[in-house]
Amino acid sequence: MQRVLTFLAVIACIGISRFASGQAAPGYYDETYRPQYHFSAETSWINDPNGLVHYQGEYHLFYQYHPLGIAWGPMHWGHAVSPDMVQWTHLPIALYPDALGDIWSGSAVVDENNTSGFFTHTGGSGLVALFTHANAPQHPQQQSVAYSTDRGRTWTKYPGNPVIPNPGVADFRDPKVFWHAPTARWVMVVAGGQLRIYSSPNLTNWTLESIAPTIDTECPDLFELAVDGGATKKWVLSKSGREYLVGRFDGRTFTPEGGPYPVDYGPDFYAAQSWSHMPDGRRVWIGWMRGDAGSKQTVFMGRMSLPRELTLRTFPEGVRMVQAPIAELQGHRAAGTARGTTILRSGTRTVSGLGGDSFEIRAEFQANASTASEFGLRVRMGNGQYTTVGYRRTAARLFVDKDHGGGGYTGVHEAPLVPDGNGRIVMHLYVDRSSLEVFGNDGKVTLTELSYPDRDSVGLELYSVGGDATLNALQFFRMKKVWGPSPFITGLS
Ligand code: FRU
Repeated sequence: MQRVLTFLAVIACIGISRFASGQAAPGYYDETYRPQYHFSAETSWINDPNGLVHYQGEYHLFYQYHPLGIAWGPMHWGHAVSPDMVQWTHLPIALYPDALGDIWSGSAVVDENNTSGFFTHTGGSGLVALFTHANAPQHPQQQSVAYSTDRGRTWTKYPGNPVIPNPGVADFRDPKVFWHAPTARWVMVVAGGQLRIYSSPNLTNWTLESIAPTIDTECPDLFELAVDGGATKKWVLSKSGREYLVGRFDGRTFTPEGGPYPVDYGPDFYAAQSWSHMPDGRRVWIGWMRGDAGSKQTVFMGRMSLPRELTLRTFPEGVRMVQAPIAELQGHRAAGTARGTTILRSGTRTVSGLGGDSFEIRAEFQANASTASEFGLRVRMGNGQYTTVGYRRTAARLFVDKDHGGGGYTGVHEAPLVPDGNGRIVMHLYVDRSSLEVFGNDGKVTLTELSYPDRDSVGLELYSVGGDATLNALQFFRMKKVWGPSPFITGLS
């Protein structure tokens, strides 16, 4: 026992000295597959983003966390804060399992007017988290509340939990809550199976408003977006971050008008959630990049996608959601370079002298002036490995082919994409050490992919087959590592 205590004391000292000096330990966030500018926990398993809320100048990210292993297990809420949704500081675990069960997914809101009464003696406002208490069979899935009077640093579970007991169904989880101004009430969408919508004046007394028998989902999200930035607004219901419906919402019932449409054409974007109380009215979400479990990682498992700004736009085929990388990412660019118009000759491969393992590249092709049957980029090349991001012109498909990507994680995924009104196809890629996010035509389609190339597979090339391709412009930026040196606090301290 004494030896164990000494060991723990040494570990604690290492933690404190690193924190006190403000320096990250050498090798910190430097494993072969460690994301350099995406969120991942220092150690252990994470899945869904939870409790996304902006409050008093900070963006909060809570997340499904199993601190004791690299596989899914008893869930906690891990916690991090950021000034810009890109550069994160880890904070201690926010919510631990208790007698009602483990802490599954949910959301957080700012109770600005103290509707809950939780903040009467502490300044009149604060953060409220709504989450699922679960762990079958002894703990049925039911909805509970916790609140924080100190900007999310510590949490008190509401003594009256659960606030919504299980209604006699197996799946009843993942509450997403927001303030619905027209009816002046809080609204909760909650599912796990059929979508249920509740309302509340105070975040603790909830009334069932509707059940949608045909909408089956985990991690629902429901929000209103302007169409083409104008006065017309429509509601978007996200199903697990995999599909979305566009429709109407009257405070009680969601009525679909279009969809389901795919959110993302890659396999690794899941359980997306949007931030509450954004200071500037943007709607931004982040998804769990699942699919890590087959990788050879041993320290951490799971990471988040880049934050994406959501808008609704009208296309010839109808109103669709567009996802664009948030503008804040530009602040994390390192050295950049741009190239002007280049003709990629048929069958040639242009080695551009660029490359790396964490970078952004935007390639704009004049598709209607190109004769090539296929053109695009290959990234993370080396040791016989490469991942192709290309466009098949006659089929009108943007695709990612990672059959040779490395690490035994293969797959070819494609998205339908016709050239824009000016005949262009734009491939905007964010490459990190083990992931690739492709935004086609400024986010009309996206493909999110994990991949596991060797550490030194860092080559990049442009290619064209079956004819020439016109590249109007190319922009390339290395991305800065966002992990340290900075005052990190380990989630396990
Ligand atoms: C989605 C999900 C949620 C659940 C959580 C548990 O990935 O299954 O429905 O709340 O994960 O970790």
